[in-house]
Amino acid sequence: MSEKTMPSYTIRTMQLSDSEEVRELWSALEWDIYKYSNEMMLINDPNGVFVAQENATGKLLGVCGCVNLSPELSFVCMYAVREDCQGLGIGTALWAKGIEHMGDRNASLFAANVKMQEIYKNHHNFKAIPQRKRLLMKGKPVVNALTASISGICLVDMNDKNIADVIEYDKQVCDGVDRSAALRALNGTFDNINSVAINDNNQVMGYCVVSETVSVIVRGWGPMGAGMLDQSQTGTL
Ligand SMILES: CC(C)(COP(=O)(O)OP(=O)(O)OC[C@H]1O[C@@H](n2cnc3c(N)ncnc32)[C@H](O)[C@@H]1OP(=O)(O)O)[C@@H](O)C(=O)NCCC(=O)NCCS
Repeated sequence: MSEKTMPSYTIRTMQLSDSEEVRELWSALEWDIYKYSNEMMLINDPNGVFVAQENATGKLLGVCGCVNLSPELSFVCMYAVREDCQGLGIGTALWAKGIEHMGDRNASLFAANVKMQEIYKNHHNFKAIPQRKRLLMKGKPVVNALTASISGICLVDMNDKNIADVIEYDKQVCDGVDRSAALRALNGTFDNINSVAINDNNQVMGYCVVSETVSVIVRGWGPMGAGMLDQSQTGTL
């Protein structure tokens, strides 16, 4: 078995021009992530994503986002190191930069697997407050039995006229967290389908973003119908 050698690398903040290479890094790990996560996160916090770059080749070896969403809250995301460079301390070095950038904010994050969940909890002393559910569904959608309509509800595109109401709705179903920067970035910036459910009084009852992932699988997310169904089904970025 060949030993891994530690490359000489520098950690710096990610730039928009790194986006394609970072997408390639995720694809190589077969990590299916929202295609425009890079751009979205840099719009939210231009200094909140870190990359490790090999000095000799300029190649990106790893990435970690610790994006400050508000004075109280950060979002940890996109944490990945090229497989041939894993286990050499690069991930931990990226993480340390990110944690420094977050300061004493709370962090929201998704653990990709049980091992990462334990690492986040036990190494970093994060306290889960309170548990949230994310529903992940895989496979081909069944399209022959869709609900054709819901009485009193219609779907419209997300646009400049309703984005303020979507932001208010999102705050209500996400414990008052202000995600306006992310939602404004989503509105019209990327190649997504953004739908808003409104009732007869023009009140927002849910929204949904359907977007590509890096492996060109279509993914839907957002708290669609949280107001109509069950508050625990709220999605998150
Ligand atoms: C998770 C990942 C980014 C870590 O990068 P890395 O460069 O291999 O990490 P390091 O070499 O610095 O760390 C090695 C050890 O510390 C652990 N570790 C990794 N990140 C850590 C962190 N932020 N804090 C504490 N420990 C960490 C590793 O699990 C590993 O433990 P082990 O030796 O018991 O297996 C990398 O393994 C990876 O890209 N995994 C695939 C993508 C993924 O699952 N990302 C996490 C999303 S939640």
